[in-house]
Amino acid sequence: MSEKIILTGIKPTGMPHIGNYIGALKPLIENSRHNKTFVFIADLHALNSVHDAKTIKMHTYEIAALLISMGLDMNNAILFRQSDIDAVYKLNTLLMNITPKGLMNRAHSYKAMLEKNAAAGDDADAGVNMGLYTYPVLMSADILLYNADIVPVGADQKQHVEFARDIAEYFNRTYGNVFRLPEPQIGADAGLVPGLDGRKMSKSYNNTIPLFAETSELKKLVMRIITDSKLPDEPKNPDESTIFLLYKHFANSTDVEKLRQMFENGKIGYGDAKKMLFDAINATLAAPREKYKYLMSHTGELDEILASGAERARKIADKTIERVMHAMLG
Ligand code: ADP
Ligand code: TRP
Repeated sequence: MSEKIILTGIKPTGMPHIGNYIGALKPLIENSRHNKTFVFIADLHALNSVHDAKTIKMHTYEIAALLISMGLDMNNAILFRQSDIDAVYKLNTLLMNITPKGLMNRAHSYKAMLEKNAAAGDDADAGVNMGLYTYPVLMSADILLYNADIVPVGADQKQHVEFARDIAEYFNRTYGNVFRLPEPQIGADAGLVPGLDGRKMSKSYNNTIPLFAETSELKKLVMRIITDSKLPDEPKNPDESTIFLLYKHFANSTDVEKLRQMFENGKIGYGDAKKMLFDAINATLAAPREKYKYLMSHTGELDEILASGAERARKIADKTIERVMHAMLG
């Protein structure tokens, strides 16, 4: 097991799709077999946009059930709910005082809101609450509290992790060496998985395959994948085919190589390739889907798992907050 501490947060805002899984969750789950991994459900971060407790709670259960059913290593991984750790609220308040306002002004996510408002002719800060504006401070508190070395995130979150590092460096210069400096890590497949229409699979394009779609729904979606009009006996470039690009994440390497050859040598039509893809996805996801359904109807078990994760996380967080308070307040 490597000494490096991995940490990431997942916002509870709905069922992830296959692109999220391949780009973000699968590498995280694999990492959890070899590294000490902190994974938390970032319910406090969801608060700036979701103002309904039931929705946040339901999505929190969904993410927890999904990670467990897809094989998160529960020995190495500490899975918990962000809001269960008192130290994070404390560190957030403390970090506010050393975080330059200008840093927040430069955050891509905040700037995107400003641009959207300008385009609509609205007030510059329309719809921006302080939770959104100070989002990167809370995220820094998350990262620094658990002494994370590596923070796997999507490209859109890279800047936030760099902010956490900047804030930690500034803190260490002012108060002495308290924080470990984190680094962002972008997954090799992040953002590359194509959706049904061939564009990047994304909630915003409505071209996704939800991770736990039921068998009949999954089949329908796979059959809807858009292809060109090449005939079965025409050679096709597998690396330009959505079918093949999805298949390679769900089949073993021998089968992937076989399908590659069949594409290149004009030995398969798109209809048959889609059937192979459906079978491969379904075979991979059928058992986890059942486990997921079981957990979602036994949320008491999820509560227990999250509570024991929080207990483990709290031990580390409390030590950090003690050091920080001592450094800042004596
Ligand atoms: P969406 O585009 O559906 O809104 P998010 O931006 O919420 O997805 O992405 C969450 C995580 O999933 C990020 O780490 C991102 O890199 C990963 N991800 C999203 N879409 C894809 C994709 N099509 N292929 C690979 N990874 C993806
Ligand atoms: N902001 C991240 C997202 O929207 C979620 C998140 C919150 C996070 N805290 C974190 C990610 C700490 C990594 C580390 O996806």
